[in-house]
Amino acid sequence: MGSLKIAIGCDHGGFHLKEKILEYLDVNKFEYKDFGIYTLEQSDYPIVAKQVANEVAAGNFDRGILVCGTGLGMSIAANKVKGIRAVCLENTYSARVSRAHNNANVLCLGERVIGQNLALDIVDVWLKTGFEGGRHKRRIDMIE
Ligand code: RB5
Repeated sequence: MGSLKIAIGCDHGGFHLKEKILEYLDVNKFEYKDFGIYTLEQSDYPIVAKQVANEVAAGNFDRGILVCGTGLGMSIAANKVKGIRAVCLENTYSARVSRAHNNANVLCLGERVIGQNLALDIVDVWLKTGFEGGRHKRRIDMIE
């Protein structure tokens, strides 16, 4: 793999899962930049969500991955940035379809909600599924 450039970030609630995802990205040779946080210190998820979302919206990265306790705060914050289609996922079917139909460009995960192996499967499916375009592009254009 590895042709996608990924921006990744977390708050304290998602720190351990982010570390696991970084290992996955290394093993699968994805290019990425880690926007923090880098320790378990308390932090405010809207800050890193905005950073990562801005980088993806600006075209500096192809996709973003954000991890917090639930994935919810990150997705709410990331979706405030124009051009961002952030999804908070808990299953692999939605991971695949969020790419194929919604062309989701930011994946949000909740470390306190789903297990690590499921989260990594979701990341794998989400990164490897392409957008189908066609009628789905028309609908996405309507959102913008
Ligand atoms: C932090 O305690 C927690 O609120 C945060 O990680 C996230 O779940 C917010 O949506």
